[in-house]
Amino acid sequence: MEIVRPGLITGNKVIDQQHQDILTLAREAMSHFDESRGGNSSEFHTLLNNLATLAARHFHTEEALLRRNGCPTLEAHQKEHAAFSERILDLLMKAMAGNLDRSGLLGVMEDWTTHHLLVSDAACSPYLQERKHSDSTHTG
Ligand SMILES: [Fe+2]
Ligand SMILES: [Fe+2]
Repeated sequence: MEIVRPGLITGNKVIDQQHQDILTLAREAMSHFDESRGGNSSEFHTLLNNLATLAARHFHTEEALLRRNGCPTLEAHQKEHAAFSERILDLLMKAMAGNLDRSGLLGVMEDWTTHHLLVSDAACSPYLQERKHSDSTHTG
């Protein structure tokens, strides 16, 4: 999973770092939990918990920025985030029941990088800046 791609760079350091952290975790997951049955249940569970925490924090940061900057696709964007959160929660529930759904995790991360990051986040990047460049009426 290649991380440094122009499409993944929003120009907002906080957002870019959060994306990077999630991708690093995803890469870790791929190497620990590949089809050769590597990794144990508690490691998988910990990783999913970390992913859920990072994702929740990131979605919150991103949505706050989109709202503040008046992003017209905020609602659709929030729905995509909610769907990812739900899928991660589903994987957590499965893991608690002893089912380590590695391909499920892989699918979530693939959809997240190829569809969400490169399409939805990229399209919203003008609204992911700390301050809109065109906004000269900012009062602080
Ligand atoms: Fe997003
Ligand atoms: Fe994002």
